[in-house]
Amino acid sequence: LLGDIGGTAIYLVGMMGSGKSTVGRLLAETLQYRFFDTDDVIEKSLGATVSQVFEENGEEVFRDIETKVLQELSQYARSVISTGGGAVLSRENWGNMRHGIVVWLSGKPETLASRIQGKEKDSRPLLSGEGSDDALVSRLEGMLEDRTKFYEEADLVVDLEDAETGEVLSPERMSG
Ligand code: S3P
Repeated sequence: LLGDIGGTAIYLVGMMGSGKSTVGRLLAETLQYRFFDTDDVIEKSLGATVSQVFEENGEEVFRDIETKVLQELSQYARSVISTGGGAVLSRENWGNMRHGIVVWLSGKPETLASRIQGKEKDSRPLLSGEGSDDALVSRLEGMLEDRTKFYEEADLVVDLEDAETGEVLSPERMSG
């Protein structure tokens, strides 16, 4: 899909549960690129989880740190960078991501929810209040509505569901 990308960095953007980290890791392995996950970089450098940062410092501080991390990572050419779902909300982040190719992993709220439900949800401060399956799907629907215009700025879109069969694609197929 990406053809000859000549060492350019690849940024994966998309909603929580779209598989950015899993696909990113596989893609980096295939291309023999470095792999970075901005949430992981933040957690390692602060010694705190994303949830803790949201709780103790607030979302705004988290966003500032996310921007600094993206800025730092823009120095690496042969890299796959999986971003947090909200990274696309900042103009400054786009300025950094434009050094590379931006790929949007796009999926339906139901697909995202099925991947997040359970333990995964607790590590996402923006979703932790949503108890039932329906509440989680509605919350994701709302977020997707607000964010679609930003995700659409990506250079490439990869759908999580097969357009004809509706089947959800495995990370292996998406990164291949
Ligand atoms: C967020 C997504 C999370 C994380 C934070 C905020 C968002 O990353 O950065 O909880 O605003 O969508 P993932 O997309 O990797 O879950």
